[in-house]
Amino acid sequence: MAQKSAIEIKPLSGALGAEVLGADGKDPATHEQIHDALMDHGVLMIRDQDLTPAQHKAFCRSLGEPLPVPFVHTLEDHPEIIAVIKEADERTEMVFGGTWHTDFSFLAAPPKASCLYARELPPFGGDTLFASMTGAYETLSRGMRAMLEGLGVAHSGRRSYGPVGTFANDQLDSMNVTAGESGDAEVVHPVVAVIPENGKRSLFVNDIYAIRFDGMTEAESEPLLKFLCEHAQRPENLCRLTWRPGSLALWDNRTTTHYAIDDYDGHRREMHRVTIAGVPLTGVQ
Ligand code: SIN
Repeated sequence: MAQKSAIEIKPLSGALGAEVLGADGKDPATHEQIHDALMDHGVLMIRDQDLTPAQHKAFCRSLGEPLPVPFVHTLEDHPEIIAVIKEADERTEMVFGGTWHTDFSFLAAPPKASCLYARELPPFGGDTLFASMTGAYETLSRGMRAMLEGLGVAHSGRRSYGPVGTFANDQLDSMNVTAGESGDAEVVHPVVAVIPENGKRSLFVNDIYAIRFDGMTEAESEPLLKFLCEHAQRPENLCRLTWRPGSLALWDNRTTTHYAIDDYDGHRREMHRVTIAGVPLTGVQ
């Protein structure tokens, strides 16, 4: 039987997130502890890794199957890895991931997790913010929780990947994204999702992909969606990941939203992301 390695898990804030020290992503003996820590903390910053793209994917397989990602072009030799890049001379209006979101929440089976590895970092900035969507749910009033538990919410990639979405206008210099009509598709998820591994309840909305409540118009839905997203983004419901060389972040994509901070003009940043497949979400029965 594999020996459990001693890894240190240090919470990053009262809401979510933990730093993981002393783990080696290449060592299967650490994988179960890392999975458990992910379910407990929502997002992990695993320090001091030294991974090739193949080893990055192998680590991700300990959590599930890497997903063939839609719309975003991948590394040529690794169709499960996207390179999230901002060049030093790039002055686009936004960076990839620079809006509060959950990765590909518009898929019928939203990803279980994402795993982002730092390949090149700016000398300052480029942190990533995370919000706890289980915390967001738990801090709503009893009446609001009860109302939301009966609702569905349509998610769509159209603001980003549809024919008139951000990427159709070619707003990123450094990444290849193919926008198109399939970006307009809508998928309905429960507003309050129940996480299969632990039964936690999570508010499954985000600023960019959750577009309206099921059976309602966008105009009708907008005020409440805006309230819920802003409620989730209160400072006390966040943690901030600061990157260092060798850092590997892993997040539960169903219980968190995140935001890439674009504050490092003049410097290059390159990250490799593997997205791990999930299952269709179920709501409160
Ligand atoms: C992402 O949204 O996947 C990218 C996050 C980041 O670049 O920090």
